[in-house]
Amino acid sequence: MARDVIIACDFPSKADVMKFLDLFTEEKPFVKIGMELFYAEGPSIVREIKERGHKIFLDLKLHDIPNTVKSAMAVLRDLDVDITNLHASGTVAMMEAAIEGLTRPDGTRPLLIAVTQLTSTSEERMREDLLINAPIEDVVAHYARNAKKAGLDGVVCSPLEAATVHANCGDGFITVTPGVRFADGDVGDQSRVTTPARAREIGSDYIVVGRPIIKAADPVAAYRRCVNEFVKGE
Ligand code: C5P
Repeated sequence: MARDVIIACDFPSKADVMKFLDLFTEEKPFVKIGMELFYAEGPSIVREIKERGHKIFLDLKLHDIPNTVKSAMAVLRDLDVDITNLHASGTVAMMEAAIEGLTRPDGTRPLLIAVTQLTSTSEERMREDLLINAPIEDVVAHYARNAKKAGLDGVVCSPLEAATVHANCGDGFITVTPGVRFADGDVGDQSRVTTPARAREIGSDYIVVGRPIIKAADPVAAYRRCVNEFVKGE
């Protein structure tokens, strides 16, 4: 299993993200590029960060009719990212279409993972805003099984749900887990959170960490703390 820390580079511009990445002189962290940076800078930001030697998780969370998602994925496949994603709530048919679009003529493709429930969504909000009455664990497990059925490689979920996903879909099915906070840190708008050390115990494959690293007084030290706790188990 790969087990790695992915930094959520939630910055508004190329200048900001490059200034941040310049801080890392000894390591080349796996980075997540999300909507903010992608919408601000376009596909070139992906190519430039890739050229600097970073692995990239392109987090655009596609959710539309199957044909539109297939066409969009066919554009994204040429960006040569390592992981990209969509919302499992878009249905199995949408996920199957996504795989088709993402697969290159030579049969290769980036890993494709599905968002189950956003880690900012509590069970109460799911019930009252989305009218989903099942327990959150059941919803996550069901969406994960759908993603597996459609041929995806894994899911985005809370680290608290990683063991449930592995129990339902097998250990080889990847769990990428945001909602990670240091024991002494701020939770912010996240709801289902845990620490890097606990995420390791539960069995997350990758943790996605944004503000605890990018807003830290010393981001490189915060990144290394995540690696020590999550990857090395120290
Ligand atoms: O700053 P923080 O560590 O909360 O950042 C988490 C990152 O993971 C954000 O970029 C957010 O968009 C993303 N994310 C999430 N929950 C999901 C999927 C993605 O928080 N279910």
